[in-house]
Amino acid sequence: MSKNTRNKPQPRAAWSGRFAEPVAERVLRYTASVGFDQRLAEHDIRGSLAHARMLAACKLISKADLAAIEAGMRTILAEIRGGKFKWSLASEDVHLNIERRLTALAGDAGKRLHTARSRNDQVATDVRLWLRDMIDAIDAQLRSLQASLLDQAERHAGTVMPGFTHLQVAQPVTFGHHLMAYFEMFARDRERLADCRRRVNRLPLGAAALAGTSYAIDRDMVARELGFDGVCANSLDAVSDRDFAVEFCAFAALVMIHVSRLSEELVLWMSPRYGFIRLPDRFCTGSSIMPQKKNPDVPELARGKTGRAAGNLMALLMLMKAQPLAYNKDNQEDKEPLFDSADTVSDTLAIFTDMVAGIEVDAAAMRAAALEGHATATDLADYLVKKGLPFRDAHEAVARAVRAADARGCDLAALGLAELRKFSPLAGADVFKVLTLEGSLASRNHAGGTAPARVRAAVKRARARLR
Ligand code: ARG
Repeated sequence: MSKNTRNKPQPRAAWSGRFAEPVAERVLRYTASVGFDQRLAEHDIRGSLAHARMLAACKLISKADLAAIEAGMRTILAEIRGGKFKWSLASEDVHLNIERRLTALAGDAGKRLHTARSRNDQVATDVRLWLRDMIDAIDAQLRSLQASLLDQAERHAGTVMPGFTHLQVAQPVTFGHHLMAYFEMFARDRERLADCRRRVNRLPLGAAALAGTSYAIDRDMVARELGFDGVCANSLDAVSDRDFAVEFCAFAALVMIHVSRLSEELVLWMSPRYGFIRLPDRFCTGSSIMPQKKNPDVPELARGKTGRAAGNLMALLMLMKAQPLAYNKDNQEDKEPLFDSADTVSDTLAIFTDMVAGIEVDAAAMRAAALEGHATATDLADYLVKKGLPFRDAHEAVARAVRAADARGCDLAALGLAELRKFSPLAGADVFKVLTLEGSLASRNHAGGTAPARVRAAVKRARARLR
């Protein structure tokens, strides 16, 4: 856009009355936001139509003016959707571009639209309307990702894998149980999003520039028409705070942090050193030099994009820091980080929903890995405790047995009963049941545990929550 407007003479700015010379070209480009706030256009029009209808209902403009505004806005909407709208840098931002065109189409009626309104309450309204739509779309995407996780968790409720702490084999878990951990993370993300939406969904219009307006307006009517839960209670606050955008960016950063954890695991699991999963080719790319490569680009990129989501949050926090009341032009800088966070989360969730559905599990490789590293050592200690040994002594006995097994290069269960009894005479023939992966899994049979029956129950409950 800046290319074709750079050398053309610029029309006068809407506010140029008190200025002795036109704004410098460089300043115009520095201060204009139309390059990125265009994407608020449809929400700007919705907000303007609600405002105009209220002005007419309050007899602040005539019915004929309202009709002309509505007709003009219909034309403008069609021009924008058809890619025919001429955006001009001289008109600074989305609001003045649309107003200029409306005035060209509707004459004085267009000039009356801005009665009892300022761009300060207008832009705050537009951003909230836009964000509310985005929140609803992203919530639906999170739900879809959760549904993908549930399908895989159900399929693999009994598929054993090593559970890790410190990335060392710790105890057996099921792959389904592992995936359900992500289901819970995304469930909390959705709660945070819903909570954020409540504060987004308040109407700033009526605050005007900062102090309210001298016209007898009806803010509740505008709020109702635009689907807001109510009006912002203080006009100075309404035009100046962007905490709702900060909250959304905090939500977005946290979702991406969760996605990055899953991404990291997918990358590890796909490495031949693990070999736990395969990702379908459509989510991977090759190398231009190494013919054998199949790289997990999507999870890697998602992991990388987490940095940008965290950065956007920081940008908005710093944007708000120490801003004196009320509106300052600083706030124009809210849009790019906010848009970028919303786009990043939305694109990532869409692709992860498909990718998670496409995960192919190598159950034999998972099982083999769970059999290495004495994953059932805790079960042996618990067994001895149930036979009367204090836990600390049981821990010590099993630790020495593990050392012996390691020295012999075998697993705990391969030591044999006679050998095990050297570490604790409490070990009986029934000890091998607790040393199996299945025995270990089945014993963790309580709410939140990894017993396959509990995982299936958790999936069932989770499905009900998604409905
Ligand atoms: N483009 C501006 C923004 O995004 C609109 C509000 C401008 N208001 C003003 N008084 N300059 O914040």
